[in-house]
Amino acid sequence: MFREDDRASVERIGAAEDPGSMAADVRAGLLGVPKDLSPWPKYLYDERGSELFEKITTLPEYYQTRAEAAILEEHARGIFARAGCRELVELGSGAASAKTRALLDAMSAQTLSNVRGGSADDESTAIHYVPLDVSESALVGSARVLLDEYPQLCVSGFVGDFEGCLKSLLARPPWPGGRLVALLGGTIGNFTPEKRRAFLSRLRAGLGDGDHVLIGVDLVKDACLFEAAYDDEAGVTAEFNKNLLSVLDRELEADFDPSLFEHRAFYDAENARVEMWLHSKVEQEVPVGALDLTVRFGAGEGMRTEISAKFTRESAGEMFAEVGLDLVELYTDPDDLFGLALGRPEEV
Ligand code: AVJ
Repeated sequence: MFREDDRASVERIGAAEDPGSMAADVRAGLLGVPKDLSPWPKYLYDERGSELFEKITTLPEYYQTRAEAAILEEHARGIFARAGCRELVELGSGAASAKTRALLDAMSAQTLSNVRGGSADDESTAIHYVPLDVSESALVGSARVLLDEYPQLCVSGFVGDFEGCLKSLLARPPWPGGRLVALLGGTIGNFTPEKRRAFLSRLRAGLGDGDHVLIGVDLVKDACLFEAAYDDEAGVTAEFNKNLLSVLDRELEADFDPSLFEHRAFYDAENARVEMWLHSKVEQEVPVGALDLTVRFGAGEGMRTEISAKFTRESAGEMFAEVGLDLVELYTDPDDLFGLALGRPEEV
């Protein structure tokens, strides 16, 4: 797909996605009580959805991205002092971000300090970045700029989604010294508890002894802060949420009128998660051509579109323990808004 003088490649990995699966997912979601599309957050991220999410990350109310970047600025070196590896696997890497650079900087500094005193040949100071993303253009773009910025870097990029491709991705033998597998940005929060466990067990199964994981988790805090972050003044999150209806229109020949739906977000403290919903303002029937279905909404009836689980140190530790991972450290920002959970295979 893309190759540059042995230092970079981008290729597809795992099976191509079954085109019928979206129809099956959405049918199940629309026929459920309540209507619920939250088990499939990926449908929120078409081109427009990804743009809107990028915009969300810059909103004053949306603290997560800034807090996570601050943690990496402060602790990336500490993370690699613990992980001690020369390979970074990033799940859902997107375009080359400040967060990725903070990790690459620290990995590279760690590698150089290992050979200090000895002869720093190219072999021992090389670092390896293995990004996985659904967007080929994002991978090629980031490989190009990172190669320029990091002369000692090799990039092996893979196009695929991390539900379908994790196994083949982790089956590739890591560089000597093990690898750090990162899932940043609080993405883990979008999984239902069952899917989260399944995902983490598959991740755990693919890890070797020297490997580590680094998982971004949004932390439990006051409900007002969540409600502001998921229902911002400028209305970007509302637009992001309603964009799901345009995705259904386009992909499944549906005919939703977004002006007849209202964005809602609330924090469910008992389940420690934010839920995003779309509420129908009126009683209406919406045809979904590709499903041969007409969906009825009562006035005020809601459809869940996303969940975003929040964690404490304790629940992050439990999430790891359930799948045989030890929580080595939970790094946080000074305001305890966000956390980066570093884990490794449990010692037996
Ligand atoms: C990308 C999953 C971390 O749950 O906060 C932002 C997505 N949804 N605003 C989150 C999102 C609404 C976001 N994650």
